[in-house]
Amino acid sequence: MSKPVSLSRYLVEEQRLHGKIPAQLRLLLEVVARACKGISHAVNKGALGDVLGSAGSENVQGEVQKKLDIIANEVLIEANEWGGHLAAMASEEMDSIYVVPNRYPQGEYLLLFDPLDGSSNIDVNVSIGTIFSVLQKTDSQAVSEHDFLQSGASQVAAGYCVYGPQTMLVLTVGDGVMMFTLDREQGSFVLTQENVQIPQDTQEFAINMSNMRHWAAPVKRYVDECLQGQEGVRGKNFNMRWIASMVADVHRILMRGGIFMYPWDQREPNKPGKLRLMYEANPMSWLVEQAGGAATNGHQRILDIQPTQLHERVSVILGSKNEVDRVTAYHAD
Ligand code: AHG
Ligand code: MN
Ligand code: MN
Repeated sequence: MSKPVSLSRYLVEEQRLHGKIPAQLRLLLEVVARACKGISHAVNKGALGDVLGSAGSENVQGEVQKKLDIIANEVLIEANEWGGHLAAMASEEMDSIYVVPNRYPQGEYLLLFDPLDGSSNIDVNVSIGTIFSVLQKTDSQAVSEHDFLQSGASQVAAGYCVYGPQTMLVLTVGDGVMMFTLDREQGSFVLTQENVQIPQDTQEFAINMSNMRHWAAPVKRYVDECLQGQEGVRGKNFNMRWIASMVADVHRILMRGGIFMYPWDQREPNKPGKLRLMYEANPMSWLVEQAGGAATNGHQRILDIQPTQLHERVSVILGSKNEVDRVTAYHAD
C-alpha cells in the first residue's frame, strides 16, 4: 500500500507540480486546516466543554448566535491574523471586515468564512461544519470591504470542514476536489478521496419542504414532478434528504449526487434567498463545479454574480448537473 498523503504533502506537491499554490496560500490553507482541527475538538467536547446553547447575542443578519458560532469565529481569527498571509477576513458572525492588526505583517489574501454552518444542529448532535473562501487583493491600496466584492469565479481556494462521524476537510484550488479525513492520533488531515465527481443524474433532492407554499412556480413544478415518481413525467422515483446543515447536505451530494435548493421564496420577497453569497454559496458552488456539477440562482451561474454587499444573500440551486440545468430551464420558461 502506498503511504498516506497528508494535506501538507498534497499542498507542497500541488505547488511544485502544477504551480497552483504560492507559498503564502499554502500557509493560509494549513492555518485554516489547523483552526478547523481546533473547532472540531470544541465540537466534539459538547456539553463537557460547555460549548452548547445560545450565546445570548445576535449577528448582523439578526440571527441568534450560538456559543459555538462565536468560538469558531474566534478560533479562525486567532489562527489567521498573525501569519502574514492575510490582508483581512470577513465572517458571517462579524458586521464588517476584520483587518489584520498593525502589529502583524499584511499579506495579499482575503479570507471569508461561515465559522459554524448548521447552527440549529449543534445542540442535537447532528453534523455541522465550517465553510471558507479565499480571494486575492487586486491592488496595493489599504484594504477595505470593496476588495472583497469579487465574483465567486475569482476565488483562489475554497472548501469546508464537516464535523460529522468523521471530521473531513474538502478543498479545491481549481484543480479538482480533494477530501481529507482527520486522523486524530496523528493530528493531521489525510487525503482519502481524490478528484471527486458528482454523478450528472440523481434521484435525490434536498429542500426544506415546509416552505413549499412560499416557493416560486419553477421550484414548485420541479419538486411536484419529483414527487409524482415513476408514474409522473420524470418516470422515476425520488428520495428526499434535508439535514439543515448546508455543509452536510453538500457533502452528501459530492459523495453520491443529488440536488440542493434553498431558493428565493415569498416570505420576504425582497430577499434573494436565505444563504449568503460570499461565504456559503460561492465556495460551495466552486466545489460543486470542480466536481462536474452545476450551481445557479435559477437564472445565472452563481460564480458569475457580482456582489454588491459583504453579507448579500442569494437563491441557491446546486448539485448534479442535469437536475440543476432542468430547474434553471424551468425558471426561463
Ligand atoms: P448557518 O447555521 O450558518 O446560519 O446556516 C444555516 C443554513 C444552512 O446551513 C442550511 O442549509 C439552512 O440554513 C437551513 O435552513 P432551514 O432551517 O430554513 O431549513
Ligand atoms: Mn451557514
Ligand atoms: Mn454559520
